[in-house]
Amino acid sequence: MKHACVIGWPIEHSRSPAIHGYWLKRYGVEGSYTKRAVPPKDIEKFLGSLASEGLAGCNVTIPHKETAFRFAEVREESAFAVGAANTLWLDADGRLCAANTDTYGYMAYLMVKAPDWRLRAAPVSILGAGGAARAIVYGFLEAGVREIRLFNRSTERANALASAFGPRVKVHPWDERSRGSTEASVLINTTSVGLKGAGTLDMDFTDFHPDCIVSDIVYVPLETGLIREARRHGLRTVDGLGMLLHQAVPGFEKWFGIRPEVTVELYNLIAADIEAT
Ligand code: ATR
Repeated sequence: MKHACVIGWPIEHSRSPAIHGYWLKRYGVEGSYTKRAVPPKDIEKFLGSLASEGLAGCNVTIPHKETAFRFAEVREESAFAVGAANTLWLDADGRLCAANTDTYGYMAYLMVKAPDWRLRAAPVSILGAGGAARAIVYGFLEAGVREIRLFNRSTERANALASAFGPRVKVHPWDERSRGSTEASVLINTTSVGLKGAGTLDMDFTDFHPDCIVSDIVYVPLETGLIREARRHGLRTVDGLGMLLHQAVPGFEKWFGIRPEVTVELYNLIAADIEAT
């Protein structure tokens, strides 16, 4: 019997138990996946006690991702790139290992929804410069994209991200996010704008290349204002829910020994839950 969980503070709204619970049932795995509220003062104690708690590992969410990265003994390249970990597991020697699966989750879903995204050798535009932006910038650089245009409200934060990744990442003023993206192959929103309908990115898609793919990592609501506006202009879109589902795959495999599939049934299950909130 294997056990895993998701930790955060707060944690009530996490959808990870529903995702892993679906897979446990689908693959007939004798195991459990629960959620645990761990306050910041207890995080190191918790991470040091995974084995004694009988846990094979855990997912980590806000505000513990950076601590999890620092605390782990073995860290995958994906975690180094982002400076934060969202997936932890104990290896055969009992060492705490860390990965960041957001990069994988984003790129895997993009390949499902728009496998031809790199047909045109064009820049990729990214809105935002937080942790999610770091994971996605890393994904596109690894995929060999020659130029990433970074647009962020605060230039300082954009510069910090760009300098961590080198000259292929170029910072542009926030006000030029539409004008500077008309040739983009993919435009991704990694900011929290549009979450639960709050705020608008005010993108003008009029002059966008017709093959541009518009993607939002916000998944509440499933159809964000950005996605709706892009569709209205006939552009292909990639929603945020798929990234959430795909980023869960490597953790499940580490803890329970089966690489799970992101099925339409799983997508619909979580989508229904989002729509009901
Ligand atoms: P995460 O780790 O999930 O990416 P984060 O680190 O809090 O979250 O980053 C949030 C991102 O959303 C930042 O890029 C932030 O811009 P600033 O760096 O200028 O703060 C962006 N963001 C949040 N609210 C915004 C708004 N109203 N307009 C534009 N950008 C916003």
